[in-house]
Parts: sequence; structure tokens; C-alpha cells
Amino acid sequence: MCENQAMIRRVALPVPLVLLLGCSGGDQTSAATATATESDTAATGTAATDSTTGGEATRPNWHQDVAPLITRSCLGCHTSGGIAPFSMETYAEAAAWSPLIADDVEAGLMPPWHALETDVCQPALPYEHDPRLAADEIQLLREWADAGAPEGDPALAAPLPDPQSLDLPNPTTTVKMGGTVTVEAAGNTLDYFHCLSLDPGHASDVFVDGLQLIPGNRAIVHHVLIYVDESAASASWPNGIKTNCGGGTGVAAPTSLIAGWVPGGLPMTTPSDVGIALPAGARLILNVHYHATGGGPESDDGTAVALRWSATPPDYVSIFKLLGEPAEATPLTGPLMIPANEKDHVEDYEWTVSYGGQPFPDSIEARIWAVAHHMHKVGIDMRMWVIDRDTKEETCLLHTPRWDFDWQRVYEYDAPVGDAVRVKAGDTIRLRCVYDNSLDNPGVQQVLAEVGLDAPVDVKAGEGTLDEMCIGAIGVAIRGL
Ligand code: HEC
Repeated sequence: MCENQAMIRRVALPVPLVLLLGCSGGDQTSAATATATESDTAATGTAATDSTTGGEATRPNWHQDVAPLITRSCLGCHTSGGIAPFSMETYAEAAAWSPLIADDVEAGLMPPWHALETDVCQPALPYEHDPRLAADEIQLLREWADAGAPEGDPALAAPLPDPQSLDLPNPTTTVKMGGTVTVEAAGNTLDYFHCLSLDPGHASDVFVDGLQLIPGNRAIVHHVLIYVDESAASASWPNGIKTNCGGGTGVAAPTSLIAGWVPGGLPMTTPSDVGIALPAGARLILNVHYHATGGGPESDDGTAVALRWSATPPDYVSIFKLLGEPAEATPLTGPLMIPANEKDHVEDYEWTVSYGGQPFPDSIEARIWAVAHHMHKVGIDMRMWVIDRDTKEETCLLHTPRWDFDWQRVYEYDAPVGDAVRVKAGDTIRLRCVYDNSLDNPGVQQVLAEVGLDAPVDVKAGEGTLDEMCIGAIGVAIRGL
């Protein structure tokens, strides 16, 4: 079931022209990408060896070719004090890792990105903020590693791109957590899930078109899921904190997932003419995955959310709909039960598109502009697709075939809302979750260690560490209600 092998890119492109011609001055980032025209002539393999004389630096080298690429695509995380385990800020730091850098970018493991095109899923639209490297960039890192990571001449250094700004422009408000959360490694347990309730302070209904998670203590804030708590059920938590809320929201009332943050993640902005309804009085719940580093107690009192909103209703009002288990859907295989030691266990769900449980006329336009998946650690592969009620044609929305609990996020499509996938009443949305409940799954090893077991157990639906879910979220922009 797992199509990840299909994604492993072992490209054998001819050496890009840029390696032969060199590039001096100008925009070096694009020189290494856009203008790196593929040569179809006998250019292979000479770049690293033909330039040892005459003071001409070997290409590709760090200062002229590699540093701009690493700065743009890797330093969001790989800095000292960043979330990644090592820094690539200097030549010496990056050079030490060069073989692994080449391996990991070729395997598609870095930069981290999990929404993949596969044999069974070709999404209709590209995703926003897709950080994946182009084939010629991967080739450049491979050439560099194979040549022994030459440094080149600092005097010829290419200008470095500015680090991408992670800030939401013009936020309306920024709301910070109310108290302090402290975590500390205890035995095998390094991971904690604590929920924070934030009051955006809006007096009437507003429509959010931008949202940014601002981690407080970056060393321990590992990833965050953001929910709208429409009935403000979380308002009673002392200091707005509920500790150990597992994979859920800590409240029984309905909530909707609107965003997910991973380190290096950019602010979420809706397509123009789309706003997310935040009813008067609603709060936000943040499910924060804190990862203790093992160096004694560590605290976070600064995690915040910046929001940008408008009181004017936009053309399209966005709602987020959760489908699957535990959410609205018909189980085609369930109830969810993953027997101990079973690999490639499949659970299928189906939802017939409706609004408030009712069909709606075709004059109402509903378009899917954002998608997300959620499982726990037994999951290995998840896919969500639409089946047209009339033509039965299938449109894939999202496939995450190398499921990784630690890299969950909301994927937005990179297109005007009018071009996004349209759904009509009576279409169906299908979800398929695949699990591996054996010790071959590193996620299973990890959760068993946490609860002090040494062999897999049957896994059922639930909120706990050793329970599972199969949730698909869709952001639906609706016009004409
Ligand atoms: C969004 C954050 C992020 C970005 C961007 C990122 N990395 Fe990483 N990288 C990580 C984290 C976190 C790890 C630790 C392993 C993990 O959690 O997957 C890691 C691990 C690695 C490793 C070591 C893997 C191992 O086997 O030990 C390499 C090599 C690497 N990254 C290279 C890169 C390169 C090259 C880029 C840019 C092209 C990049 N990374 C961009 C977060 C990032």
C-alpha cells in the first residue's frame, strides 16, 4: 500500500550548464535554479575536475553555488539553536554533512515535505509553500558532495538570499498563552501534549484571512495543531492550559482544525476573497507537542498566535470540516481496530457531501482550498479523494504516503479559489488510512516504549497515545449561501 518508493528520486541529469559556464554576480539563487539549463551534450562529470589550475575555483563550490541554496532551503531549521539537529550556517558545518545532505535530498527526505504525488494520487493543483528542491538543485548538491565538498573562493561568494520572513503581514491582533508550561524528560518519555486556550478578544463575528503560530520556547515547541473552539468550552481551563490532552483538543464540544504548524512553517493565508469564520466569543485551542530535550526542566510561556481578520464577510466563507474517525463519516471497514502485529491494515471512510446534513443546490459553490490529515503513530499512509456524483470521476486531494506524526500540517492549494476543486452535494469524499501495528514501525516502537510495553497490542479508536484516529480535514470556501 505504501507508495513511498515511487517518490525516491534518483535523477541522472546532465550537468547543468551553470556548472560549466560559472555564474558571477547577479541573483545567484536563480542562477543555480532557473537558468541552470540542461545540457544534452557530453558535459557529464567534468565540473569538479577541470579547474584545478589557474586559480579558477572548482564548481560547484560552497561560496558560489551551494551556500545560496542551503541558505534559502535549509537554514529555516538548520541553524544553531534551530529545530534541526545540526547547523549548516558555515562552510565547515555544512561540508561535514555533505554526503548525507546529498543522500537525503535525493531520497526526498529533506527539506521535510509529506504531500506527495504518487501512482494513485496526482492532486489537481500544486500546494503553497512547497519547499522541495528542483532536480538540478539536487544534482548540484550531489556533485558537490562527490567532489569532496569544495569550499571555493570567499572573494567570489555569491550573494545570499534573505532568509524568508516568517511573519504574517499586518496582523490584527496577537494573543499569547496565559500561563507557563514546563516539561522535563522522565525515563523514556520526552514528548508531551498540552492544550492552550486563547481568547482572540473579538466582540462580533470576524473572518480570518491570515494566521501565524509564534512558538515561545523554540527548543521544545515541536509542532502545533490549531482548532477553533466555537462554544468557548475551553474558557474554564486555569490559565488557559490543560495538560496532557493527548492527540485531541481537551474539550468534548465540537471544534474544527484550521491550521497546523511545524518548524519552519510559514503563516497561513487564505486565497483572496476567502475568510475563515470566527464566530463572536469563539476561542482558539492549540494542541502543542512539547519535546523535552533532556536537559532538566524547560518552560514555555510565550507561545502565541497572530491573527489577521476583517469584519466584512468575504465572497467565500471558509469552514473546516473534519471527516473520518472520530468525525462525520461512514466507516466502510470499521469500527477502527488494528490487531497487534498486523501490517498494512486498511481503514476506509466515506462522506457524502452535504451542508448541515442536508443536500444543497448547485447554485451554491463549494471549493476545497486546504487539506490536512491526522493519524497517530501507528499510521503509515493516508489518502483523501473526491468522487463526482455524476461522472464517478476521482480527484485526489492529498496523499501522505510516508506518514510522520511529527510533520503534520495543513496544506493549502496554490491557486485562486475559483480554480480550486469544486464539490457538489452528493459527491463523496473517501479517506483511506493504512497502519502498521508491528515493531517494524518506528512510531509503534516509540509509543510502546513510552507506556512501558515491549510488544504491540490491539489498537482501537481514541484520544490516547496508544489509540488511533483517521481524520481528514478540508477547508471549504463557500459562496452563495
Ligand atoms: C522544516 C525544518 C527543516 C528544513 C527546512 C530542513 N531540515 Fe534537515 N532536518 C530537520 C530535522 C528536524 C531533522 C532531524 C530528523 C527529523 O526530524 O526528520 C533534520 C535532519 C537532516 C539531516 C540528517 C538526517 C540524518 O540521517 O541524520 C540532513 C542531512 C538534513 N536534515 C539535510 C537538510 C537539507 C540539505 C536541507 C535543505 C535542502 C534541510 N535539511 C532542510 C529539519 C529541517
